[in-house]
Amino acid sequence: MNIVVTGGAGFIGSNFVYYLLNNRPSDKVICFDKLTYAGNLETLEPAQSNKNFKFIRGDIANRQDVETLFENEKPDVIVNFAAESHVDRSIEEPELFLKTNIIGTSILLDACKKFGIKRFHQVSTDEVYGDLPLDRPDLFFTEESPLKPSSPYSASKTSADLLAMTNWRSSKVPVTISRCSNNYGPYHHPEKLIPLVITRALNDKSIPVYGTGLNVRDWLYVEDHCSAIDLIIRDGKAGEIYNVGGHNERANIEVVETILHILGKPESLIEYVTDRKGHDLRYAIDPHKIETELGWKPKTKFEEGINKTVSWYLENKDWWQKIISGEYQNYYQKMYGNR
Ligand code: NAD
Ligand code: TYD
Repeated sequence: MNIVVTGGAGFIGSNFVYYLLNNRPSDKVICFDKLTYAGNLETLEPAQSNKNFKFIRGDIANRQDVETLFENEKPDVIVNFAAESHVDRSIEEPELFLKTNIIGTSILLDACKKFGIKRFHQVSTDEVYGDLPLDRPDLFFTEESPLKPSSPYSASKTSADLLAMTNWRSSKVPVTISRCSNNYGPYHHPEKLIPLVITRALNDKSIPVYGTGLNVRDWLYVEDHCSAIDLIIRDGKAGEIYNVGGHNERANIEVVETILHILGKPESLIEYVTDRKGHDLRYAIDPHKIETELGWKPKTKFEEGINKTVSWYLENKDWWQKIISGEYQNYYQKMYGNR
């Protein structure tokens, strides 16, 4: 199969590219990425020599780019990771999120309709369900939970999901959607919590913890997310939504303390800062459907995954040092300077 991975130069997309190249040697993998601040060609360098891999620079929100991609590559499957993905940035500058996440997804769906496709898979997020209260550990997001996004990021991802489902209903574009919890692992941009903590702790810099630090996220090792998507594009049913998560709920402060402990750094680095606006309290996925219908099971428990992740950042300092030495400095000053 010809599989186009949009956003394949970012965190999860690049891990998915490697997952396919390692596990599906008969597939051709075409990465289509605009290379925004979050996309990094160095991440894909080891893939460039693989004859089953090709990189194309392009924008999902540009109809011409997308139609040329379909004409030249004749994809069987599109897996759409391409997105603006950071909640904090979306609160400051929502417009780009609407353009890429909503218009971009719509343009991809139009092309699927025009040229035909065996499967369009939309990589969505548990954030479309909003949040759960901290004092109700019995509650989890199911595929039937109401859509109640809290940030411009999650609102744009919700819109993209709705567009995908309406294209299935009205035009029979064979769509599937996965809604996954927070990922962590190699190639995660240092603007996000886990890599931010690792890279700042390694430089003996303060660790900004929003609000009380008690907000809960459900962490999934990125390779387990990749195996879920791989299964859905092959065995999942068109028109279906699958929640993906591994029951690894942790309060943010626990995550921060765990990383400091692994690195042998003092907890005095922790600095509580002003909370994120509209900060979601708790995310927690019920993965019953994908487990029972498709037989998916995550392999990596949080303790193992976080140790592997910390080791990766220790062994790949070049990768993240280049990122935090450039424009990222201005970003950090803007977002955290007066907090
Ligand atoms: P990321 O920000 O690391 O990567 C996004 C990639 O998309 C980058 O390579 C970027 O260059 C590319 N991109 C951005 N705009 C584009 C455009 N207009 N055209 C083509 N490429 C473009 O994001 P990520 O964390 O890897 O997330 C990937 C997907 O998974 C997103 O759709 C996100 O909503 C979803 N998701 C992420 C998580 C998580 O924990 N990170 C959890 C669930 C779902
Ligand atoms: P993040 O990695 O941005 O993912 P998301 O907002 O999509 O869940 O943040 C994870 C959690 O960590 C979230 O509750 C916000 C919190 N957080 C901090 O406390 N400090 C930080 O510097 C960042 C980036 C996040």
